[in-house]
Amino acid sequence: MNEHIVAPSVLSLDYTHLKEQVRGLNESNAKWLHFDVMDGHFVPNITFGPIILHTFDQMSDLFMDVHLMISDPEKYIPDFIKAGADGITFHTEAVGNDIEHIRKIIDDLHAQSIKAGFVVKPKTDIKQFEPLLPIVDYILIMSVEPGFGGQKFMPDQLEKVRWLDAKRQEKGLSFRIEIDGGINETTAKEAYAAGCDTLVAGSYVFKADIAKQVDSIL
Ligand code: DX5
Ligand code: ZN
Repeated sequence: MNEHIVAPSVLSLDYTHLKEQVRGLNESNAKWLHFDVMDGHFVPNITFGPIILHTFDQMSDLFMDVHLMISDPEKYIPDFIKAGADGITFHTEAVGNDIEHIRKIIDDLHAQSIKAGFVVKPKTDIKQFEPLLPIVDYILIMSVEPGFGGQKFMPDQLEKVRWLDAKRQEKGLSFRIEIDGGINETTAKEAYAAGCDTLVAGSYVFKADIAKQVDSIL
């Protein structure tokens, strides 16, 4: 069983107090920082790229968990690795849900000692990716439509988590199950009960004292 990890999404932090916010994250029990990279094409929003990741990497020793909500992820992965990514998840839909293409990207990430996983949107079936379970370090389940923070949790997505957890136990695998979107004190409990061990939380973490908010969903 993997230890519980909280990965605050920096999409929702207060950029007018960047230094203090990052200090708050570093002093909290968060182990990862979650970076929501959006290109305005794969999702209808634009956020930040490698330059901002590099800035955070200089300010924090936490694990940099990069969530690529972008088309053509392979084209940009090298820049995110250079900027300090420790783990990268990319959307299966961005590569046509093609198993061998996903496998190649994961193998390439592993060849550079980067933790690797894939992400599925709410409407994407997870079972088609069973052949990839033995090679991934983590799988990210979206519990909102990707693109924006502060949306409502989609409980039906926990069905994917339960399926993944059962497969993980059946096959003796140890990949992490990460969930992303609408996580708060209530939905965190439901996510852990379904088999998640890694929670992304943006608006919930940054709406009050960071350390307390993190501890309340650990
Ligand atoms: C949405 C992002 C999520 C989002 C989570 O596309 O992938 O990480 O920032 O935000 P909250 O926790 O506010 O739902
Ligand atoms: Zn995310």
